[in-house]
Amino acid sequence: MSELMTISYRSLARLREPSSQLQAILEESRQRNDELGVTGILLFDGTYFMQTIEGPVEATASVFARIVEDGRHDDVVPFGVAKIAKRAFPDWTMELIGPEVTADIVPDMEEFDFTDRRLRLVHKAVKKIAA
Ligand SMILES: Cc1cc2nc3c(=O)[nH]c(=O)nc-3n(C[C@H](O)[C@H](O)[C@H](O)COP(=O)(O)O)c2cc1C
Repeated sequence: MSELMTISYRSLARLREPSSQLQAILEESRQRNDELGVTGILLFDGTYFMQTIEGPVEATASVFARIVEDGRHDDVVPFGVAKIAKRAFPDWTMELIGPEVTADIVPDMEEFDFTDRRLRLVHKAVKKIAA
């Protein structure tokens, strides 16, 4: 089995038509991620994105490289980059967490403290909502 890695980032959304553009992002992401064996979550609070992608090292790194170049957001700040033994979100090719829930889980997107501990708490909260 190939080695797994995880990458998270926070970015500033640049969406002119948020609902249709979000839908397009999700459709592209799910199709591509499914092909590459990448899974994860995308939080959107109406202003900022926070995303975690995870999967085989090369696939995950190449997806992230494309995401960084995407004009639908900018100011991408990566954090929580690590090799992992198992996935946090094995069942989600890309799960969108909308503004209401995101504001609950991450009320401080603008000044989010990019620590591993904080990221673990965010992941835990997302899983709890899904359970
Ligand atoms: C916030 C955000 C999250 C994204 N997440 C993913 C993702 O998880 N997987 C993916 O393949 N593309 C994702 N994309 C889309 C990529 O940036 C890119 O448009 C897509 O992979 C198609 O790339 P291509 O035009 O080079 O084929 C995301 C884009 C944005 C703005």
